[in-house]
Amino acid sequence: MMSAAEPALQIAALSAGYGRFDVIHDISLRVAKGEAVALLGPNGAGKTTVLRSIMGLIKNRRGSIVVGKTDVSGLPAYRIASGHAAIAPEGRRLFTDLSVEDNLVLGALRLRRDKRRVQALLDSVYELFPVLRTYRKRRSSFLSGGEQQMVAIGRMLMSDPELLLLDEPSIALSPVAVDLVAKALLELRRKGASLLLVEQRVDIAVAVCDRLYIMRHGEIVEETTATMAREDGFNMIEKYLG
Ligand SMILES: Nc1ncnc2c1ncn2[C@@H]1O[C@H](COP(=O)(O)OP(=O)(O)OP(=O)(O)O)[C@@H](O)[C@H]1O
Ligand SMILES: [Mg+2]
Repeated sequence: MMSAAEPALQIAALSAGYGRFDVIHDISLRVAKGEAVALLGPNGAGKTTVLRSIMGLIKNRRGSIVVGKTDVSGLPAYRIASGHAAIAPEGRRLFTDLSVEDNLVLGALRLRRDKRRVQALLDSVYELFPVLRTYRKRRSSFLSGGEQQMVAIGRMLMSDPELLLLDEPSIALSPVAVDLVAKALLELRRKGASLLLVEQRVDIAVAVCDRLYIMRHGEIVEETTATMAREDGFNMIEKYLG
């Protein structure tokens, strides 16, 4: 039973915004351990703001955010990033003049005293994305968009977090790269990862996730399962995204 499963993420009555203005209102959502959940919605709906709130990157936030067993609502961002949650952010945000491997290792800052664990995590990222091992010494700005997205996902994995957050990993990628990213997310799921995926591509969201939330104007307006979305021919989702 999903409702009985241990939560990886539990958000209750979250409101947050920039300056004095809230852009998300009374958000409640849940990701069970080992579950993949998508957050869909049109541009400006507030999807990125939800992820930034979870990471503690927004000061103006109220409500509660629990990751695993830890209430992270009051924690500073660096503590949240220390094994509770990690993000592959919108726009990837790599250090473009650093090598692929240096970008990856930066994700493991909290573990830097444990060289063997960092190496084991690096190996698992290279197993997930073999091309990154080949290019490990290369400046990340010399990589294709798809390869850079793999670095962003790899860096997220390097802190070995309880919860993975991905902000539109498919954006501006070639069809082949989108496919590789989607396959990697499925592989992470197979290994038991818990993830919240922000996407505009409904096909990817339903291919990777069990459940979907739809946001509009800063609020969650629908919650459904991938199976129900498919059965209804995506009509309900398209209504909100269209
Ligand atoms: N740094 C900021 N300062 C002020 N307002 C912001 C800031 N970032 C986002 N906003 C506003 O907050 C609202 C929600 O933005 P957010 O980036 O969360 O949307 P989104 O759903 O991720 O959109 P997109 O699909 O375009 O990435 C928008 O109206 C946006 O203009
Ligand atoms: Mg966004």
